[in-house]
Amino acid sequence: MTLRQRAGQQVLEAERTIMRELNASDADGLQEVIGDPHVMGNQARTIEQTRGWIRYHMPGYTEHGFALWAVIAKDRGELIGDCGILYRTIAGGGEFGLGYHLRRDCWGCGIATEAAQAVCDTVGTATRVTSGRCHAAHQHSIT
Ligand SMILES: CC(C)(COP(=O)(O)OP(=O)(O)OC[C@H]1O[C@@H](n2cnc3c(N)ncnc32)[C@H](O)[C@@H]1OP(=O)(O)O)[C@@H](O)C(=O)NCCC(=O)NCCS
Repeated sequence: MTLRQRAGQQVLEAERTIMRELNASDADGLQEVIGDPHVMGNQARTIEQTRGWIRYHMPGYTEHGFALWAVIAKDRGELIGDCGILYRTIAGGGEFGLGYHLRRDCWGCGIATEAAQAVCDTVGTATRVTSGRCHAAHQHSIT
């Protein structure tokens, strides 16, 4: 797995997905993921919040060289989630962490593990990611 430039964008490839930079036109597709209470619980986003989520992560591509990417299914060419490294301010300090969300109909086939592994293999070591956060009630995020 390698992080490389394609058409001026960072692109990371896993077996069944590619991860590319998020942009404003991803809002509707991403809304199907993070607007879904099955995925997000009580943190399900409105479409406006999803647009804000994209805007929030976009500067990371140039500031850090990585951020949260759109996860695109290779076979359908369709956005099915997000995955990448998030910078969070926690208890006054900052840290990089792994984050991912996958559209509900794509759960249960190993795509999230594969994408997260690709991120860890390429940028995780460089950023010294030592943490991951998930909804406590979501056992699949922990195991
Ligand atoms: C976290 C999340 C992406 C995990 O989804 P997932 O489908 O459980 O994870 P994977 O895509 O890695 O799939 C793993 C499952 O596929 C199965 N599987 C089927 N085919 C597989 C294959 N070829 N390779 C690997 N696993 C496969 C595994 O056995 C496993 O099943 P199990 O959960 O019954 O044990 C999803 O639950 C989600 O979006 N949750 C909400 C957001 C969240 O908590 N994010 C995490 C931290 S920010």
